[in-house]
Amino acid sequence: MAVTAADLRQMKAGGERITMVTAYDYPTARLADAAGIDAILVGDTLGMVVLGHPTTVPVTMEDMLHHVAAVTRASTRALVVADLPFMAYQVTVEDAMRNAARLMQAGGAGAVKLEGGTALAPTVQRIVEAGIPVMGHVGLTPQAVHQLGGFRLQAKTTAAAQRLIDDALALEEAGAFAVVLELVPAPLAERVSERLSIPTIGIGAGAGCDGQIQVLHDLLGLVGDPESAHVPRHTRRYAEIGTLIREALAGYVADVRAGAFPAAANAFEGPAEVRRFVEEDRASGPIRLRA
Ligand code: KIV
Repeated sequence: MAVTAADLRQMKAGGERITMVTAYDYPTARLADAAGIDAILVGDTLGMVVLGHPTTVPVTMEDMLHHVAAVTRASTRALVVADLPFMAYQVTVEDAMRNAARLMQAGGAGAVKLEGGTALAPTVQRIVEAGIPVMGHVGLTPQAVHQLGGFRLQAKTTAAAQRLIDDALALEEAGAFAVVLELVPAPLAERVSERLSIPTIGIGAGAGCDGQIQVLHDLLGLVGDPESAHVPRHTRRYAEIGTLIREALAGYVADVRAGAFPAAANAFEGPAEVRRFVEEDRASGPIRLRA
């Protein structure tokens, strides 16, 4: 049975921790689904970890639709949540509704996510009223990175902590089915989780959240620079896939250069007729280069 937004609420009510990871393509979504992940986020982090942009700001609706459709083709059980990218929902409520509908209809997503709190609550409410489950996202909101001055811990004053609680409550009131809390102090995230009846999904927000989300590439060490030893504090490497890929490809390069690949077992002899033709052609004289 496929997981739904309502199931995630049930999991919180039952004290069951929710697992969520990002994925952006068919093979990794298949693997996440097979691993038993509850929900897959096609995050706009794809702009950074897949498309090589420095932030999520350049990601477009077309980028999102391309990747969301690949992920939904792969997922048989996990709920697929699709990010609304920068400026797909901030200009007008109509834009937001149209773009959320595209992610559901053309992309096949089961829910959408958008960044922002109280100011976005009316937009969340309209999308929810149209029948689309919405996940909120507060704390570090990467689409606002140029305003926030970097990817860093948020809610570091009592006023900001109060604003974060108010934002999360406004999202719940507007009908969001869950809220991502990104890079906020763990005690505050725990308190928000106590105050909300909908689940909180933390990233860099401590163990007191109702669930956790991580960027797949961080978990797997699937980074562009395999020499990079830096693992951000909010994540944990469960594998070093980047190193494995680089070593595997270096082995391929060495084998081709040494004539060790392909071996006979990797090639096709073909029918006797073609082999005979080649022998006769070879016997017919020296190699003649075409003019
Ligand atoms: O885009 C994304 O991957 C996200 C997660 C970091 C929560 O929003």
